[in-house]
Amino acid sequence: MHIILMAGGMGTRFWPRSRKNSPKQLLNLVGDKTMIRMTYERVRGLTADKNILIITNQELKEAIHQQIPEIPLNNIIAEPFGKNTAPCIGLAAAIVRKRASMEEPMVILPADHLIKEVDVFQDIIRTGVEYARQNDALITLGITPAYPETGYGYIQRGEAVATLNNRTVYKVKTFAEKPNLEAAQLFLQSGDFLWNSGMFIWKVGTIWKEFVTHQPEMAEGFEEIYQSIDSNRFEETVLDVYMRVKSISIDYAIMEVAQSVYIIEADFKWNDVGSWEAAYAISEKDEQQNAITAQNQVVIDSKNNLIYAPKKLVALIDVENLAVVETEDAILICKKDSSQRVKEVIDDLKQRN
Ligand code: GDD
Ligand code: MG
Repeated sequence: MHIILMAGGMGTRFWPRSRKNSPKQLLNLVGDKTMIRMTYERVRGLTADKNILIITNQELKEAIHQQIPEIPLNNIIAEPFGKNTAPCIGLAAAIVRKRASMEEPMVILPADHLIKEVDVFQDIIRTGVEYARQNDALITLGITPAYPETGYGYIQRGEAVATLNNRTVYKVKTFAEKPNLEAAQLFLQSGDFLWNSGMFIWKVGTIWKEFVTHQPEMAEGFEEIYQSIDSNRFEETVLDVYMRVKSISIDYAIMEVAQSVYIIEADFKWNDVGSWEAAYAISEKDEQQNAITAQNQVVIDSKNNLIYAPKKLVALIDVENLAVVETEDAILICKKDSSQRVKEVIDDLKQRN
């Protein structure tokens, strides 16, 4: 099997810690390891390091190489620019087709999630790969939804089609990417929708056929890339294809429209760590429920705060439910439960440039 780590996203919600050169996947939001390092350690052992590819961009390539020196440098592929996850997956598919074959299973993983139960995770991946080897299936991993999140995809489970390693594979009835709140609430109430974890398993040939059917222009581009691999035209061809390929996620480009979509329930604890509030929820806290990263601290009558100022002495007096995040050149001060609004800061800053 080949494992693809997608690590080219921007992750702007962790401003001011996340910047162009330090997006979410390169931050240590929880504990002392970066998200990308944790993602690698989670898959280690499923396949040889030479079969793990990381698709990212030029700015992050070196930092990722330093984070994961185990992976050969020519497995860290820099896209000329981000065009969302569908082109990223097409590029990866072309490379795996060349290095292995159309029969090779690919496991596609985001590089910015937290999963604690590595054994369960690996067991589910192996089960998915086994099913994908035997069937022309696009396999998704579904998470039991906890609230009507509008930032995720929702997958409606249909009939059971197989049981492997004590796990059930279901046919998917509907895949709905990032619904509005009303729809998300209905999905949640219905009880037969799961969150899309953003992790996928399929054979190269299966996803290739789906691109040909649903995104024929993209598929032509991937074919050109495939033909150019191992020649001196590779970089030029990738650039050429990326200039004209549309920017779209795999969820909209393929998953919403494909027929042969399946789901395996992912019964491990999963967290997408989407905001400072989410990071706080899973951080270690003191007795007053403060999560403080600082050189030293004095806490007086203060609780439920997230403070990140690793080079400072921090003092708190009579404050609650705040997020304060300090970096070299910026400081964020907000109510913890307003931390989703950090993206408004980015929008504002962009307009000034
Ligand atoms: N190489 C590369 N190039 N990677 C990218 C690009 C790109 O242009 N765009 C995004 N990525 C990476 C991100 O770094 C992340 O690891 C992963 O692909 C997913 O992208 P996100 O931008 O984080 O997607 P999302 O969170 O909005 O939505 C997806 O994940 C949800 C679960 O977290 C969808 O699959 C949803 O359906 C799903 O619920
Ligand atoms: Mg994400």
